Amino acid sequence: MANNKISWPPSTQLAPVPAVLLGCGNAKGYSANLITVAWCGIINSDPAMLSVSIRKERYSHAIISETGEFSCNIPIPSLAHAVDYCGVVSGRKVDKFKACDLTALDGEKISAPTVAECPLTLECKVVEVKELGSHDLFLAEIVNVRVSPEFIDEKGHFDLAREGLLAYCHGGYYNLGEKLGSFGFSVKK
Ligand SMILES: Cc1cc2nc3c(=O)[nH]c(=O)nc-3n(C[C@H](O)[C@H](O)[C@H](O)COP(=O)(O)O)c2cc1C
Repeated sequence: MANNKISWPPSTQLAPVPAVLLGCGNAKGYSANLITVAWCGIINSDPAMLSVSIRKERYSHAIISETGEFSCNIPIPSLAHAVDYCGVVSGRKVDKFKACDLTALDGEKISAPTVAECPLTLECKVVEVKELGSHDLFLAEIVNVRVSPEFIDEKGHFDLAREGLLAYCHGGYYNLGEKLGSFGFSVKK
């Protein structure tokens, strides 16, 4: 194959990535807030951990720094409007749960609110914060996982893809399509 790729300056081109709704607040005098985050990923299996990168100027940065907790709610494609809204409007001025008609549920192991309409919620406690430059990296332990029973199939398997999978790619929101295989299918006889 011809080596004709074009070089671009370094930038955050990794895609597709998740776009998640972090629930925060309900503690230390803060009311419930939501922030959309795309710089999010799993970083360890045992203990289960994830990272989120948040700019210092976000209202949620102050909330999560002070409370040390957040919920990571994985949205489905029908929530794309809310995902975008929570990513362009600040909770300093607007109650985003109310504006997006989302239901705040109490966390089980954290004070931060969780989003009822998201079928999967990871309850997280911050263990470390690292200043990187534009963003601060929050390393957090997943202390509890909440799933909606409507997404569990007859065999007892949790099927997050039941109503599609939402992804973020270079400024666009996508409903991921066709399943191509399952873990290990390339070597299965
Ligand atoms: C798709 C999408 C992804 C985003 N990802 C991040 C992110 O990873 N980190 C971040 O600091 N802000 C991110 N933002 C911007 C914040 O969500 C946005 O500034 C939000 O209004 C902050 O809300 P707050 O002030 O209530 O905390 C993203 C926005 C969108 C629309």
